[in-house]
Amino acid sequence: MMDIIIALAVIIVIFVYLWTNTTPKNFPPGPPCLPVLGSIPFLPRKYLHCVMAGSWMDKYGPVVGLMFGTKKALGVSGAKAVLEVLRRDEFQGRVDNSRTRDISFNKRLGIIFTDGPYWLQMKRFSLRHLKDFGFGKADMGGLIMQEVEDLVIEMRSKDTVQMYGLFKISALNVISGVMSGMRYARDDEELQALVNNLDELVRRSFRSGKISNIFPILKRLFPRITGSNEIMYYIKNAYNFIQRKITEHKQVLNENNPRDFIDAYLIEMQKGNSNGNAIFTEEGLIVTCHDFFVAGGDTTNNTLVFCLLYMILHPQVQNAVQEELDSVVGQDRRPSVEDRQRLHYVNAVISEVMRINPVVPLTVPHRVTKDTNLHGYTIPKDTMVLINLWSVHHDRGHWGDPEVFRPERFLDENRNFVKDEWIISFGAGKRMCLGEAMARNTIFLFFTSLLQEFLFSLPEDDPPPQTLPLPGMTMAPQPFRVKITRRI
Ligand code: HEM
Repeated sequence: MMDIIIALAVIIVIFVYLWTNTTPKNFPPGPPCLPVLGSIPFLPRKYLHCVMAGSWMDKYGPVVGLMFGTKKALGVSGAKAVLEVLRRDEFQGRVDNSRTRDISFNKRLGIIFTDGPYWLQMKRFSLRHLKDFGFGKADMGGLIMQEVEDLVIEMRSKDTVQMYGLFKISALNVISGVMSGMRYARDDEELQALVNNLDELVRRSFRSGKISNIFPILKRLFPRITGSNEIMYYIKNAYNFIQRKITEHKQVLNENNPRDFIDAYLIEMQKGNSNGNAIFTEEGLIVTCHDFFVAGGDTTNNTLVFCLLYMILHPQVQNAVQEELDSVVGQDRRPSVEDRQRLHYVNAVISEVMRINPVVPLTVPHRVTKDTNLHGYTIPKDTMVLINLWSVHHDRGHWGDPEVFRPERFLDENRNFVKDEWIISFGAGKRMCLGEAMARNTIFLFFTSLLQEFLFSLPEDDPPPQTLPLPGMTMAPQPFRVKITRRI
């Protein structure tokens, strides 16, 4: 009897091993792979992008094979491989798992986590209609500058400011302005609540770990340990906020006069309902608006905070930015987007901040949509792809001294700004960031206006801020304070 039990146990172990370790023939090499868990125990707990570009690249090359439980995944680093997967059509899908469905009514909705014809239609529609309401245009019809002035007024009354999250309200207000025509006072409770919700969401969905995404049953069995209850709570709160705006819009909707993105979407929804093409739905609108908030708030804030962090660490760079602003713009008016082409050093500084600490070091995971090949390896359909933008920004062969903060690398011998194609903070190809133009304008106008008005320095007793970011879905600077002195 004992023999049979042992034999059965051995068979089960072998079966589980084979079931969970079926990497296809000619799959790229990578860290070791355990039964059931795959490579998860061998993944670094933080800063995966650095390990991918460092020891993994040395050991396995630019394309690394991984197993997240039974799910196949690739890590891609280095400019050649990264640009290739960002541009090849069959790498432009998005993963579809319990986590992505949790945040979209258990369906595939919105832009960030969809693919195929639905995604294409939503992305095109969003780009077209967001533009109608000022998205990406200079200062978006005054939206951005209104936020700049509000923040400047608040800062004038302070000697020191905590930088963590300083620009979140402004960034969300700009997005909300285009989306729903509404902006809120900086101390508005509804907006504050949305900011906190999104913040918790970004932090907790990362902290919930990967195992529960691979074995969704764990979320049902251990909602507290996996954090899934809290995540759903924060998502629901954010959805309720958006739902309230949609309800208000529906009550006064005028088909002939759309005022903002929500109006335009509701009108499209009505058209679809009347001709039997119900691809535009209210749930889809909620998830799309949520996508804009999640993708745009944290990223814009973190980039701006990094800009000021480097100004404090490099006062001579801050002086040079202010000298350029004084000579090109002066002190009698605020900088405008039209000034950008004449502010060569400012452009170099912003590019260098975005190069050295890209706030999205790995793109949102992509998915392979059909069996294919990459660098001689066989890549099956549905493999998840982690694309390492950070590795391109830190390529020693291209930049020479990637770890050094040196804005001059973007200036030619006449000190004119020179764009570098190796800066891919917003991704590249069809999946490229939808908010790039808006984010660039927001960052430029806030950075230049604040440096025109204030000198930023380290408070006397504070230690210098760390450039190492906090880990998370996006990279945020660690909290630090600045001392502010008015210049004008
Ligand atoms: C500094 C600011 C920002 C940075 C660095 C950034 C960067 C990125 C990156 C790297 C991606 C992923 C590309 C990929 O998966 O291949 C992305 C996607 C996206 N971003 Fe941004 N982003 C920023 C601001 C914004 C803003 C302000 C919005 C909108 C309000 C926005 C909306 C989106 C959307 C909707 C996607 C998904 C596109 C798709 O899946 O087709 N982003 N962004």
